[in-house]
Amino acid sequence: MAYETILVETRGKVGLITLNRPKALNALNSQVLKELLAATRAFEADDGIGCLVVTGSEKAFAAGADIKEMQAKSYVEAYLEDFFAGWEDFTRCRKPMIAAVAGYALGGGCELAMMCDFIIAADNAKFGQPEITLGVMPGMGGSQRLTRFVGKAKAMDLVLTGRMMDAAEAERCGLVSRIVAPEVLVEEALKAAQKIADFSLPAAMMAKEAVNRAYETTLAEGLRFERRLFHSMFALEDQKEGMAAFAEKRKPNFVNR
Ligand code: HXC
Repeated sequence: MAYETILVETRGKVGLITLNRPKALNALNSQVLKELLAATRAFEADDGIGCLVVTGSEKAFAAGADIKEMQAKSYVEAYLEDFFAGWEDFTRCRKPMIAAVAGYALGGGCELAMMCDFIIAADNAKFGQPEITLGVMPGMGGSQRLTRFVGKAKAMDLVLTGRMMDAAEAERCGLVSRIVAPEVLVEEALKAAQKIADFSLPAAMMAKEAVNRAYETTLAEGLRFERRLFHSMFALEDQKEGMAAFAEKRKPNFVNR
């Protein structure tokens, strides 16, 4: 597929997707969604890929859903097409995904970053849910994911005032896992992704599934789910290899990666 709004590259075992609508600060329109889903599915199906990185430009990860595309939409159109539901498909990617965020990650941009498994931010990153300033509210998960990630007080503050928070505040409140300089952002994200891709793919995918389960269920159910997945790992060749390598003081050579 020829992409117009994203750039797609393979770096070793990592699939790199770069949002590329510079004139609109990477605003997320329906074409971006279509292309992002196609690229993600292709990487998901590619046995050579163990991790994905999604990034934007130094000025903007994404400045939100495309306001100009949606402004004239009617209620019935939004309801019948289940507007924004397509983004749920993006979260169905089972391989680990890292968001590498520089510049603006606003509205749908912040929500897209939160759909990834963790966020590495450049120190110039700015996060926010400014939908209230447009007479609406978050529609791609912002009221739910943000609240689970940063807690009610901070989520209410951001969603109700529409203010932006910088990378340091985002790291402090747990939205961001680490902060790096803008010029090394993609390199650092690729390094982390390559590290993940060098581990056992089924182990990484199950670990991702287990952590995500923590957001969907009770502690007791989550612990049971984790333990059952953990038990199943003793059926993996990679478990035998990983533990043998430790005992033999050598590097593991995982089969499924
Ligand atoms: C469409 C956008 C856009 C967006 C920026 N642009 N954000 N187009 N949708 N979300 C376009 C501008 O119109 C402009 O195009 C160009 O990108 C550059 O933007 P500027 O505003 O000139 O840049 P700057 O002055 O640097 O300001 C950057 C900014 C500002 C602070 C990020 O662009 C901004 O506030 N953008 C909107 C942020 C926002 O509200 N996001 C939430 C969207 S709603 P032209 O053609 O004029 O050069 C959402 C979910 C909605 O995400 C859920 C509802 C159900």
